[in-house]
Amino acid sequence: MNISLKEELSAFGAKPVSVDIYCSPEHFELECRHVFKKTWLYAGREFDIPEPGDYFVKNLDFLHASVLVVRGNDGKLRAFHNVCSHRQSTLAWDQKGHARRFVCKYHGWGYDLEGNLRSVPDEQYFYGLDKKRCGLTPLAVDAVSGLVFINLDPAPEQTLRQSLGEIVGRLAEFPLEEWSRNYTFSAEIPTNWKCIVDNFQETYHVSCAHAVSVGDRSVGPENPMGHPLKFEFFGLHRGMDIWANPEHKPTLVESYAVRNGGIVGQTTSENRSDNAAMFVFGLFPNIVLNVTPYFLQLHELIPISAGRTHWSTTAFFPAAKNAGQRMSQEFSSVLLRDITAEDLGILGSLQKNMLSGARKEIQFQAVEVLCRHMVNGLEKYIRDGQEREQRVADG
Ligand code: FES
Repeated sequence: MNISLKEELSAFGAKPVSVDIYCSPEHFELECRHVFKKTWLYAGREFDIPEPGDYFVKNLDFLHASVLVVRGNDGKLRAFHNVCSHRQSTLAWDQKGHARRFVCKYHGWGYDLEGNLRSVPDEQYFYGLDKKRCGLTPLAVDAVSGLVFINLDPAPEQTLRQSLGEIVGRLAEFPLEEWSRNYTFSAEIPTNWKCIVDNFQETYHVSCAHAVSVGDRSVGPENPMGHPLKFEFFGLHRGMDIWANPEHKPTLVESYAVRNGGIVGQTTSENRSDNAAMFVFGLFPNIVLNVTPYFLQLHELIPISAGRTHWSTTAFFPAAKNAGQRMSQEFSSVLLRDITAEDLGILGSLQKNMLSGARKEIQFQAVEVLCRHMVNGLEKYIRDGQEREQRVADG
Protein backbone atom coordinates (compact mmCIF):
# COMPACT_ATOMS: atom_id res chain seq x y z
CA MET A 1 0.00 0.00 0.00
CA ASN A 2 1.85 3.06 -1.15
CA ILE A 3 0.32 6.25 -2.46
CA SER A 4 2.62 9.24 -2.50
CA LEU A 5 0.13 11.58 -0.88
CA LYS A 6 2.46 14.48 -0.27
CA GLU A 7 3.76 14.81 -3.81
CA GLU A 8 0.51 14.06 -5.57
CA LEU A 9 -1.71 16.26 -3.47
CA SER A 10 0.43 19.27 -2.70
CA ALA A 11 -1.19 21.24 -5.53
CA PHE A 12 -4.42 21.49 -3.57
CA GLY A 13 -2.95 23.36 -0.61
CA ALA A 14 -2.76 22.47 3.06
CA LYS A 15 -4.15 25.53 4.81
CA PRO A 16 -7.12 25.33 7.18
CA VAL A 17 -10.51 26.16 5.64
CA SER A 18 -12.83 28.81 7.08
CA VAL A 19 -16.08 27.57 8.63
CA ASP A 20 -17.81 30.57 6.98
CA ILE A 21 -17.95 28.57 3.76
CA TYR A 22 -20.17 26.08 5.58
CA CYS A 23 -22.14 28.42 7.84
CA SER A 24 -22.63 31.82 6.30
CA PRO A 25 -26.10 32.54 4.83
CA GLU A 26 -24.39 35.04 2.52
CA HIS A 27 -22.10 32.33 1.18
CA PHE A 28 -25.10 30.07 0.70
CA GLU A 29 -26.78 32.81 -1.39
CA LEU A 30 -23.68 32.96 -3.57
CA GLU A 31 -23.77 29.19 -4.04
CA CYS A 32 -27.42 29.31 -5.11
CA ARG A 33 -26.84 32.19 -7.50
CA HIS A 34 -23.53 31.19 -9.09
CA VAL A 35 -23.42 27.41 -8.66
CA PHE A 36 -26.79 25.68 -8.36
CA LYS A 37 -28.47 27.95 -10.91
CA LYS A 38 -25.61 27.48 -13.36
CA THR A 39 -24.50 23.85 -13.23
CA TRP A 40 -25.99 20.49 -14.18
CA LEU A 41 -28.09 19.06 -11.35
CA TYR A 42 -29.17 15.46 -10.94
CA ALA A 43 -32.92 15.13 -11.45
CA GLY A 44 -33.77 11.40 -11.60
CA ARG A 45 -33.39 8.32 -13.76
CA GLU A 46 -34.46 7.43 -17.26
CA PHE A 47 -35.43 4.03 -15.88
CA ASP A 48 -38.46 5.68 -14.27
CA ILE A 49 -39.74 7.30 -17.48
CA PRO A 50 -39.26 4.74 -20.28
CA GLU A 51 -42.42 5.47 -22.33
CA PRO A 52 -43.75 8.59 -24.10
CA GLY A 53 -45.84 10.50 -21.58
CA ASP A 54 -43.93 9.23 -18.54
CA TYR A 55 -42.77 12.09 -16.35
CA PHE A 56 -41.33 13.02 -12.99
CA VAL A 57 -41.05 16.29 -11.11
CA LYS A 58 -37.87 17.53 -9.49
CA ASN A 59 -38.52 20.10 -6.77
CA LEU A 60 -35.63 22.40 -5.86
CA ASP A 61 -37.35 24.58 -3.30
CA PHE A 62 -34.16 26.31 -2.23
CA LEU A 63 -33.90 27.71 -5.76
CA HIS A 64 -37.67 28.37 -5.97
CA ALA A 65 -37.72 25.91 -8.85
CA SER A 66 -39.84 22.93 -9.80
CA VAL A 67 -38.84 21.06 -12.96
CA LEU A 68 -41.01 18.76 -15.05
CA VAL A 69 -39.03 16.08 -16.93
CA VAL A 70 -41.06 14.22 -19.54
CA ARG A 71 -40.47 11.66 -22.28
CA GLY A 72 -41.95 13.08 -25.52
CA ASN A 73 -43.83 11.29 -28.28
CA ASP A 74 -40.55 11.19 -30.20
CA GLY A 75 -38.89 9.36 -27.29
CA LYS A 76 -36.75 12.37 -26.34
CA LEU A 77 -36.34 13.72 -22.84
CA ARG A 78 -37.54 17.26 -22.29
CA ALA A 79 -37.51 19.45 -19.21
CA PHE A 80 -39.63 22.48 -18.45
CA HIS A 81 -40.23 24.80 -15.56
CA ASN A 82 -43.28 23.22 -13.91
CA VAL A 83 -45.14 26.50 -14.26
CA CYS A 84 -48.30 27.24 -16.21
CA SER A 85 -47.96 30.19 -18.60
CA HIS A 86 -51.36 31.66 -17.68
CA ARG A 87 -50.98 32.87 -14.11
CA GLN A 88 -48.11 30.62 -13.09
CA SER A 89 -49.81 27.89 -11.13
CA THR A 90 -47.92 24.63 -10.62
CA LEU A 91 -48.71 22.43 -13.61
CA ALA A 92 -47.88 18.83 -12.57
CA TRP A 93 -48.58 18.15 -8.89
CA ASP A 94 -47.71 14.44 -8.66
CA GLN A 95 -44.04 13.50 -8.20
CA LYS A 96 -44.26 11.09 -11.13
CA GLY A 97 -46.84 9.73 -13.50
CA HIS A 98 -47.99 9.31 -17.07
CA ALA A 99 -49.85 11.90 -19.14
CA ARG A 100 -50.98 12.37 -22.72
CA ARG A 101 -51.06 16.10 -22.03
CA PHE A 102 -50.69 18.33 -19.02
CA VAL A 103 -53.77 20.31 -18.01
CA CYS A 104 -53.41 23.03 -15.41
CA LYS A 105 -55.90 22.49 -12.62
CA TYR A 106 -56.42 26.20 -12.01
CA HIS A 107 -58.13 27.34 -15.25
CA GLY A 108 -57.53 24.36 -17.50
CA TRP A 109 -54.85 25.43 -19.98
CA GLY A 110 -53.54 22.30 -21.73
CA TYR A 111 -50.01 21.55 -22.96
CA ASP A 112 -48.70 18.68 -25.08
CA LEU A 113 -45.66 16.57 -24.16
CA GLU A 114 -43.43 18.88 -26.16
CA GLY A 115 -44.52 21.84 -24.03
CA ASN A 116 -46.71 23.57 -26.65
CA LEU A 117 -49.86 25.28 -25.42
CA ARG A 118 -52.68 23.37 -27.13
CA SER A 119 -55.92 24.37 -25.46
CA VAL A 120 -57.26 27.44 -23.67
CA PRO A 121 -60.79 27.40 -22.24
CA ASP A 122 -62.88 30.36 -23.39
CA GLU A 123 -60.00 31.39 -25.60
CA GLN A 124 -61.94 34.02 -27.60
CA TYR A 125 -61.93 36.35 -24.61
CA PHE A 126 -58.14 36.52 -24.53
CA TYR A 127 -57.81 39.34 -27.01
CA GLY A 128 -54.67 38.86 -29.03
CA LEU A 129 -53.35 35.84 -27.11
CA ASP A 130 -50.31 34.43 -28.96
CA LYS A 131 -50.44 30.75 -28.03
CA LYS A 132 -47.06 30.07 -29.67
CA ARG A 133 -45.43 32.36 -27.09
CA CYS A 134 -47.21 30.64 -24.19
CA GLY A 135 -45.67 27.20 -24.26
CA LEU A 136 -43.89 25.82 -21.20
CA THR A 137 -40.46 27.31 -20.50
CA PRO A 138 -37.85 24.73 -21.57
CA LEU A 139 -34.71 23.82 -19.68
CA ALA A 140 -31.58 21.95 -20.75
CA VAL A 141 -31.79 18.23 -19.98
CA ASP A 142 -29.59 15.25 -20.82
CA ALA A 143 -28.76 11.80 -19.44
CA VAL A 144 -25.57 9.81 -18.86
CA SER A 145 -25.77 6.11 -17.94
CA GLY A 146 -29.49 6.60 -17.38
CA LEU A 147 -28.92 9.42 -14.86
CA VAL A 148 -30.94 12.49 -15.86
CA PHE A 149 -29.54 15.97 -15.24
CA ILE A 150 -31.13 19.37 -15.78
CA ASN A 151 -29.65 22.84 -15.87
CA LEU A 152 -31.54 25.94 -14.72
CA ASP A 153 -29.26 28.26 -16.70
CA PRO A 154 -31.12 29.30 -19.88
CA ALA A 155 -27.78 29.08 -21.75
CA PRO A 156 -25.47 26.55 -20.01
CA GLU A 157 -21.79 27.13 -20.60
CA GLN A 158 -21.16 23.41 -21.13
CA THR A 159 -23.17 20.41 -22.23
CA LEU A 160 -23.60 17.68 -19.62
CA ARG A 161 -21.05 15.51 -21.42
CA GLN A 162 -18.54 18.34 -21.62
CA SER A 163 -19.02 18.93 -17.92
CA LEU A 164 -18.62 15.29 -16.87
CA GLY A 165 -15.77 14.62 -19.33
CA GLU A 166 -13.95 11.37 -18.64
CA ILE A 167 -16.49 10.31 -16.02
CA VAL A 168 -18.95 9.53 -18.84
CA GLY A 169 -16.71 6.68 -20.00
CA ARG A 170 -16.06 5.49 -16.44
CA LEU A 171 -19.76 5.13 -15.72
CA ALA A 172 -20.31 3.41 -19.06
CA GLU A 173 -18.22 0.48 -17.77
CA PHE A 174 -21.30 -0.60 -15.80
CA PRO A 175 -24.88 -1.15 -17.09
CA LEU A 176 -26.24 1.33 -14.56
CA GLU A 177 -29.20 2.31 -16.71
CA GLU A 178 -30.64 -1.22 -16.38
CA TRP A 179 -30.50 -1.44 -12.59
CA SER A 180 -33.61 -0.86 -10.54
CA ARG A 181 -34.04 0.86 -7.21
CA ASN A 182 -33.71 -1.35 -4.16
CA TYR A 183 -34.19 1.30 -1.47
CA THR A 184 -34.02 4.98 -0.69
CA PHE A 185 -33.16 6.31 2.75
CA SER A 186 -33.74 10.00 3.29
CA ALA A 187 -33.58 12.48 6.12
CA GLU A 188 -33.41 16.16 6.89
CA ILE A 189 -30.05 16.86 8.50
CA PRO A 190 -29.26 20.07 10.45
CA THR A 191 -25.96 20.46 8.62
CA ASN A 192 -24.64 22.30 5.58
CA TRP A 193 -24.87 20.25 2.38
CA LYS A 194 -21.09 20.35 1.82
CA CYS A 195 -20.35 18.72 5.18
CA ILE A 196 -22.33 15.72 4.00
CA VAL A 197 -20.74 15.66 0.55
CA ASP A 198 -17.35 15.79 2.30
CA ASN A 199 -18.27 12.79 4.41
CA PHE A 200 -18.92 10.61 1.40
CA GLN A 201 -15.68 11.53 -0.36
CA GLU A 202 -13.08 10.79 2.27
CA THR A 203 -12.00 7.55 3.95
CA TYR A 204 -10.16 9.16 6.85
CA HIS A 205 -13.17 8.55 9.12
CA VAL A 206 -13.77 4.92 8.17
CA SER A 207 -11.47 3.13 10.60
CA CYS A 208 -12.91 5.17 13.49
CA ALA A 209 -16.56 5.98 12.72
CA HIS A 210 -17.24 2.67 10.97
CA ALA A 211 -15.22 0.37 13.19
CA VAL A 212 -18.38 -1.69 13.81
CA SER A 213 -20.11 -1.79 10.42
CA VAL A 214 -17.12 -1.78 8.05
CA GLY A 215 -14.66 -3.38 10.45
CA ASP A 216 -11.64 -4.76 8.67
CA ARG A 217 -13.22 -4.72 5.23
CA SER A 218 -11.26 -1.64 4.21
CA VAL A 219 -8.53 -1.42 6.84
CA GLY A 220 -5.88 -3.96 7.74
CA PRO A 221 -2.22 -4.31 8.69
CA GLU A 222 -1.23 -3.52 5.11
CA ASN A 223 -3.31 -0.31 5.10
CA PRO A 224 -4.28 0.55 8.71
CA MET A 225 -6.00 3.85 7.86
CA GLY A 226 -7.75 2.53 4.77
CA HIS A 227 -6.12 4.97 2.36
CA PRO A 228 -7.74 4.92 -1.07
CA LEU A 229 -5.83 3.27 -3.87
CA LYS A 230 -5.90 6.43 -5.92
CA PHE A 231 -7.49 9.83 -6.37
CA GLU A 232 -8.58 11.31 -9.67
CA PHE A 233 -9.64 14.79 -10.68
CA PHE A 234 -11.96 15.58 -13.56
CA GLY A 235 -12.29 19.36 -13.68
CA LEU A 236 -14.86 20.23 -11.04
CA HIS A 237 -15.58 16.54 -10.40
CA ARG A 238 -13.41 14.03 -8.61
CA GLY A 239 -13.02 10.36 -7.75
CA MET A 240 -11.19 7.73 -5.73
CA ASP A 241 -10.84 3.97 -5.68
CA ILE A 242 -11.60 2.49 -2.24
CA TRP A 243 -9.28 -0.23 -1.03
CA ALA A 244 -10.61 -3.65 -0.02
CA ASN A 245 -8.71 -5.67 2.54
CA PRO A 246 -7.94 -9.05 0.93
CA GLU A 247 -7.36 -10.51 4.42
CA HIS A 248 -10.93 -9.76 5.56
CA LYS A 249 -12.52 -12.95 6.89
CA PRO A 250 -16.21 -12.97 6.05
CA THR A 251 -18.82 -14.49 8.30
CA LEU A 252 -20.75 -17.51 7.07
CA VAL A 253 -23.70 -15.37 5.98
CA GLU A 254 -21.40 -12.85 4.31
CA SER A 255 -19.61 -15.63 2.42
CA TYR A 256 -22.93 -16.80 1.09
CA ALA A 257 -23.80 -13.24 0.02
CA VAL A 258 -20.44 -12.83 -1.74
CA ARG A 259 -20.79 -16.14 -3.59
CA ASN A 260 -24.25 -15.22 -4.80
CA GLY A 261 -23.73 -11.78 -6.17
CA GLY A 262 -21.05 -9.58 -4.68
CA ILE A 263 -21.39 -7.14 -1.84
CA VAL A 264 -20.13 -3.80 -0.65
CA GLY A 265 -16.55 -3.99 0.60
CA GLN A 266 -15.67 -6.96 -1.53
CA THR A 267 -12.77 -6.73 -3.96
CA THR A 268 -14.22 -6.15 -7.40
CA SER A 269 -13.31 -8.48 -10.21
CA GLU A 270 -13.34 -5.73 -12.84
CA ASN A 271 -11.30 -3.19 -10.97
CA ARG A 272 -8.98 -0.54 -12.30
CA SER A 273 -6.77 -0.77 -9.23
CA ASP A 274 -5.65 -3.82 -7.28
CA ASN A 275 -8.06 -4.64 -4.48
CA ALA A 276 -10.54 -1.86 -5.33
CA ALA A 277 -13.76 -2.33 -3.41
CA MET A 278 -15.65 0.59 -4.86
CA PHE A 279 -15.24 3.52 -7.23
CA VAL A 280 -16.38 6.84 -5.81
CA PHE A 281 -17.27 9.78 -8.06
CA GLY A 282 -18.04 13.19 -6.58
CA LEU A 283 -20.13 15.04 -9.15
CA PHE A 284 -20.07 18.79 -8.69
CA PRO A 285 -21.89 20.14 -6.86
CA ASN A 286 -24.03 17.83 -4.75
CA ILE A 287 -23.89 14.18 -5.86
CA VAL A 288 -21.64 11.31 -4.78
CA LEU A 289 -21.82 8.00 -6.64
CA ASN A 290 -20.47 4.75 -5.22
CA VAL A 291 -20.12 2.34 -8.11
CA THR A 292 -19.32 -1.39 -8.15
CA PRO A 293 -20.18 -4.16 -10.59
CA TYR A 294 -22.88 -5.18 -8.09
CA PHE A 295 -24.65 -1.97 -7.18
CA LEU A 296 -24.79 1.79 -7.54
CA GLN A 297 -25.31 3.92 -4.46
CA LEU A 298 -26.28 7.52 -5.15
CA HIS A 299 -26.05 10.16 -2.44
CA GLU A 300 -27.89 13.38 -3.19
CA LEU A 301 -27.61 16.43 -0.94
CA ILE A 302 -30.27 19.04 -1.63
CA PRO A 303 -29.75 22.20 0.40
CA ILE A 304 -32.66 23.62 2.35
CA SER A 305 -30.71 26.52 3.83
CA ALA A 306 -27.11 27.24 4.83
CA GLY A 307 -27.49 24.94 7.82
CA ARG A 308 -30.02 22.37 6.71
CA THR A 309 -29.98 19.67 4.03
CA HIS A 310 -32.31 17.09 2.60
CA TRP A 311 -30.15 14.02 2.22
CA SER A 312 -31.14 10.90 0.33
CA THR A 313 -29.23 7.79 -0.59
CA THR A 314 -30.59 5.36 -3.12
CA ALA A 315 -29.19 1.98 -4.05
CA PHE A 316 -29.72 0.38 -7.45
CA PHE A 317 -29.05 -3.26 -8.18
CA PRO A 318 -29.23 -5.54 -11.23
CA ALA A 319 -32.40 -7.59 -11.41
CA ALA A 320 -31.90 -10.59 -9.09
CA LYS A 321 -32.03 -13.84 -11.05
CA ASN A 322 -32.53 -16.11 -8.05
CA ALA A 323 -33.09 -16.13 -4.31
CA GLY A 324 -29.34 -16.24 -3.62
CA GLN A 325 -28.73 -13.03 -5.56
CA ARG A 326 -31.65 -11.39 -3.83
CA MET A 327 -30.23 -12.37 -0.46
CA SER A 328 -26.83 -11.00 -1.50
CA GLN A 329 -28.40 -7.67 -2.45
CA GLU A 330 -30.32 -7.47 0.81
CA PHE A 331 -27.08 -8.14 2.69
CA SER A 332 -25.47 -5.19 0.89
CA SER A 333 -28.50 -3.00 1.52
CA VAL A 334 -28.42 -3.64 5.26
CA LEU A 335 -24.68 -3.08 5.42
CA LEU A 336 -24.98 0.19 3.49
CA ARG A 337 -27.81 1.27 5.76
CA ASP A 338 -25.74 0.63 8.86
CA ILE A 339 -22.73 2.50 7.48
CA THR A 340 -24.86 5.47 6.49
CA ALA A 341 -26.66 5.58 9.83
CA GLU A 342 -23.30 5.83 11.60
CA ASP A 343 -22.36 8.76 9.35
CA LEU A 344 -25.56 10.67 9.84
CA GLY A 345 -25.52 10.41 13.60
CA ILE A 346 -22.22 12.29 13.60
CA LEU A 347 -22.98 14.71 10.76
CA GLY A 348 -25.97 16.14 12.63
CA SER A 349 -23.60 17.65 15.18
CA LEU A 350 -21.24 19.53 12.88
CA GLN A 351 -23.25 22.64 12.06
CA LYS A 352 -24.18 23.70 15.58
CA ASN A 353 -20.57 23.28 16.61
CA MET A 354 -19.31 25.35 13.69
CA LEU A 355 -21.86 28.03 14.61
CA SER A 356 -20.77 27.97 18.26
CA GLY A 357 -17.68 30.00 17.41
CA ALA A 358 -15.48 27.46 19.16
CA ARG A 359 -13.27 27.15 16.10
CA LYS A 360 -13.11 29.39 13.04
CA GLU A 361 -11.43 26.85 10.81
CA ILE A 362 -11.50 23.19 9.89
CA GLN A 363 -8.49 21.08 8.94
CA PHE A 364 -8.20 18.73 5.99
CA GLN A 365 -5.42 16.15 5.77
CA ALA A 366 -4.13 14.57 2.56
CA VAL A 367 -6.69 11.75 2.46
CA GLU A 368 -9.41 14.41 2.64
CA VAL A 369 -8.10 15.93 -0.59
CA LEU A 370 -11.39 15.45 -2.44
CA CYS A 371 -13.07 17.71 0.14
CA ARG A 372 -10.42 20.35 -0.47
CA HIS A 373 -10.79 19.92 -4.24
CA MET A 374 -14.52 20.49 -3.84
CA VAL A 375 -14.07 23.66 -1.76
CA ASN A 376 -11.42 25.01 -4.14
CA GLY A 377 -13.64 24.33 -7.16
CA LEU A 378 -16.69 25.83 -5.52
CA GLU A 379 -14.90 29.03 -4.52
CA LYS A 380 -13.42 29.43 -7.99
CA TYR A 381 -16.80 28.82 -9.60
CA ILE A 382 -18.35 31.53 -7.43
CA ARG A 383 -15.52 33.97 -8.19
CA ASP A 384 -15.84 33.32 -11.93
CA GLY A 385 -19.60 33.87 -11.73
CA GLN A 386 -19.16 37.14 -9.88
CA GLU A 387 -16.63 38.34 -12.45
CA ARG A 388 -18.95 37.40 -15.30
CA GLU A 389 -21.76 39.36 -13.68
CA GLN A 390 -19.49 42.34 -13.17
CA ARG A 391 -18.41 42.31 -16.82
CA VAL A 392 -22.06 42.31 -17.91
CA ALA A 393 -22.86 45.15 -15.49
CA ASP A 394 -19.90 47.13 -16.82
CA GLY A 395 -21.19 46.67 -20.37
FE1 FES B 1 -52.83 27.62 -15.23
FE2 FES B 1 -54.58 29.56 -15.07
S1 FES B 1 -52.75 29.34 -13.95
S2 FES B 1 -54.63 27.84 -16.33
